[in-house]
Amino acid sequence: MLLPIITPLTPADLDEIMVLERRCFRDPWTRRMYLVDMTENELATYLVVRRTVEDEKRKTKNENGEARAARSKNLQSEIRNPKSEILAYGGFWLMADEAHIATVASHPDWRGCGLGEWLTVALLEAAIARGARLATLEVRAGNTPAQQLYRKLGFEVEGVRAHYYRDGEDGLIMTTPPLADPVMQARLAAARADARARLEKCLSLTRESSL
Ligand SMILES: CC(C)(COP(=O)(O)OP(=O)(O)OC[C@H]1O[C@@H](n2cnc3c(N)ncnc32)[C@H](O)[C@@H]1OP(=O)(O)O)[C@@H](O)C(=O)NCCC(=O)NCCS
Repeated sequence: MLLPIITPLTPADLDEIMVLERRCFRDPWTRRMYLVDMTENELATYLVVRRTVEDEKRKTKNENGEARAARSKNLQSEIRNPKSEILAYGGFWLMADEAHIATVASHPDWRGCGLGEWLTVALLEAAIARGARLATLEVRAGNTPAQQLYRKLGFEVEGVRAHYYRDGEDGLIMTTPPLADPVMQARLAAARADARARLEKCLSLTRESSL
């Protein structure tokens, strides 16, 4: 199974991120914004979900000839970037005891596969590890997919920032209950499991269709 991994975002990822950023957002961040934030802002944490060729090569070593040939064929057709492929990325700023989710995006070709959910759970877990008590964010009033994702993870609308975005669209402020709350913890665990199962299914469907 081609399972992605979650790792910190590095400056070497920025070429890939810039391509995705322009596809995912109407008001994309610049490379410099990411670079400065990643390297100079101690309160920032950025994560990426990526597939690696190395993982596949390691698995291939332990398989018989037929399985290896099938995996290799699928691998060739699935992986467009020879080094890695970033499937989703996001980050937060730790402000006192609040994690402000700054950005979350999944690859347009891989939407609905659980990546946004898996990554956002990982961001919230990283925020808890850094001492966040709750998480908050702004989301475009018209961005239903993102709002649904955040609602699923326990965020609720707390207020509206009128004309928050450059094009005049309102921003909704969404906030979680305390992250350590047992109900919230159970919600995150369920979301992680759900996202992972959907991701596995998506990846195996991709594999079948490339046979
Ligand atoms: C928002 C975004 C990150 C969701 O990523 P994704 O990988 O497609 O989401 P997932 O497959 O993990 O779906 C998780 C949940 O999100 C919600 N969701 C995702 N796509 C949705 C859609 N098209 N319509 C309604 N809800 C949707 C659902 O609640 C879904 O769970 P469910 O299927 O059990 O109901 C993605 O649409 C995206 O990158 N959008 C552009 C960037 C962006 O707007 N980021 C948010 C900035 S605040």
